[in-house]
Amino acid sequence: MSSLAGRNLVSIFDLTNEEIEGVFRLADRFQSALRETGPLAVGRPRRRTAKRGQDDPASLRKVCAGQVLATLFFEPSTRTRLSFEAAMHRLGGSVVSVAEAKSSSAAKGERLADTIRVVASYANVIVLRHPHEGAALVAAESLDPQRVAELGRMVPIINGGDGSHEHPTQTILDLYTINRDHGKIAGLNVALCGDLAHARTVHSLAYGLARFGANLKCISPPELSLPEYVKRRLQAEFDCVPEEYDSFHALAMPPRRPGRKRGRRMGPLVSDSELAEAVTSQVDALYVTRIQKERFRDPALAKAVRASYVIDGALLSAIGRHVTIMHPLPRVDEVDYAVDADTRAAYFRQASYGVPVRMALLALVATAKTPPPAPREVVAHVKCGNPTCITNHEPGLEARMMRVPEVGVLRCAYCEQEQEARQ
Ligand code: NCD
Repeated sequence: MSSLAGRNLVSIFDLTNEEIEGVFRLADRFQSALRETGPLAVGRPRRRTAKRGQDDPASLRKVCAGQVLATLFFEPSTRTRLSFEAAMHRLGGSVVSVAEAKSSSAAKGERLADTIRVVASYANVIVLRHPHEGAALVAAESLDPQRVAELGRMVPIINGGDGSHEHPTQTILDLYTINRDHGKIAGLNVALCGDLAHARTVHSLAYGLARFGANLKCISPPELSLPEYVKRRLQAEFDCVPEEYDSFHALAMPPRRPGRKRGRRMGPLVSDSELAEAVTSQVDALYVTRIQKERFRDPALAKAVRASYVIDGALLSAIGRHVTIMHPLPRVDEVDYAVDADTRAAYFRQASYGVPVRMALLALVATAKTPPPAPREVVAHVKCGNPTCITNHEPGLEARMMRVPEVGVLRCAYCEQEQEARQ
């Protein structure tokens, strides 16, 4: 696996499949270490049955010792922020945090890039959650090579959710959950159900699943179907065309035709046994999301589609025993509380994997690394003084003389010979 040290995680596309599998392997180790330690016993390691090694609690606390994680959350969060912070504590690092926009200088009008440039000088890694799509990329780009050179270290930016765009670390723990339950991802049928238009977890997950070769079935009211840009990317890059249905019952009927927007059909138009057969044979994992009412441009639509799908006892009795029922949480009213007692309900376990998975991500990206050298200022219209330098022979090639302020000279980018810098 290539090194993740110092790299940003803005999109799920920032990691290769091989790198994601590497994160799974490390998360497995952290998960077993956490199980042995127990949530309250970090300070008092128990006797280990296995050999002492890298994964005993004392060694775990050395992995990120001396490192500081900054969590900048400009939108509400429970799981993402707290599991990142717990992960950093478990690895021996410390945490500074902004838990709401109104308690930071964003409330005074500071732009995001400025906040990030400042926080980067206080921390080794930044996790950002922001209401605007693309905010994580702006944050990553605000730490340009010049700034990194000044800091003397890379400060990776991890996207903890940017508007309705992406939520890549949630996707890694979602894929981890599916992989643990089924021993694979390729070839599985995964149903994405709910507000597929606005749920960032679904967008990153759809890409992740397609990349690992799963089949996607999208179940939502037509108004809440996957955005066109996501579907286009799925098709163009992975040859993946999700099947779209208005309801679970519709799984027993042909998929929705592309482009159909109106005429919702959520009711039970098929018998229970037809439904049972369709769902059982077509779904290995069911991923449900809440209506993201804070992201609707038209609040009336949010109201209209509310409670248009519910996972309840009736649906449970129709689906196979092997189905993993997942939810990024929080749930509102789309999964009946009665479902929690069923062994297929995986959502609390899924949320608990947030800690080992984020420990793995932090351990991989937060490792101190020397930044690449700062880009040199190029001084225009100066010829290289080396008579045999290629720039003095190749027609049409201009010399590129770079200022080296440390020693007060200009250095040729081609032959590397140096000459005095005349101001
Ligand atoms: C999700 C999010 O914030 O996008 N929550 C999470 O990170 N586990 C899902 C949601 O808010 O519905």
